[in-house]
Amino acid sequence: MRNRPFSYRITLEADAMAEFDQHVVRRLSSMKGQFLDEQAYSAMLAQGDPLLYEVYYVERPEIAGELITGLSIVHAGKVGDEYFMTKGHFHAVLETAEIYYTLRGEGLMLMESPEGDWAAEELRPGRVLYIPPRWAHRSINTASQQDLVTFFVYPGHAGHDYGTIEQRGFRKLVIEHDGRPSICDNPRWRPPEVKTGSVARGW
Ligand code: F6R
Ligand code: ZN
Repeated sequence: MRNRPFSYRITLEADAMAEFDQHVVRRLSSMKGQFLDEQAYSAMLAQGDPLLYEVYYVERPEIAGELITGLSIVHAGKVGDEYFMTKGHFHAVLETAEIYYTLRGEGLMLMESPEGDWAAEELRPGRVLYIPPRWAHRSINTASQQDLVTFFVYPGHAGHDYGTIEQRGFRKLVIEHDGRPSICDNPRWRPPEVKTGSVARGW
């Protein structure tokens, strides 16, 4: 791991990706249960296992004070009418924010808070998105062909909670309707389970 000040290129040329330490790939098979149209999901999986998105990042110690930076690349495509998207997550340390800067493509960042609020912000080249602490986030590529490429920065100790979204989904979905992205309610969204605590039962 680098222990002196450093700089790197984010020029989007293929050879620039070599400057990152880590490369994570997410295929359709890792998104089971996340897309609404399960038939379309299974049919697509039967044809192969397409690459939905990739993340390149610079490794840093996962501690407060550090920043983790990298590139997220969501490829273009749809499962049924639903656009390719990231898994989405809350940060494990909920009180941590994140910044995304869009370099290429077009899309939406779908966000929601544990308190029930939700938001969708456009991802367009040249725009910065600030995601405050507590907001889960999922990036969605709404272009028909072009990759959605974003640069991200988040605190080293943030960590990732994928389980909450895997179990409940996001409150909203982004689907193509009449050739355009449209935000609708997720019919499968489940409210968080009410924790009953450790009430002792006498039988
Ligand atoms: C890190 C972050 C991004 C995402 C990336 C892939 O906190 O938000 O780097 O990790 O866009 O998305 P996920 O992590 O949801 O698979
Ligand atoms: Zn994040």
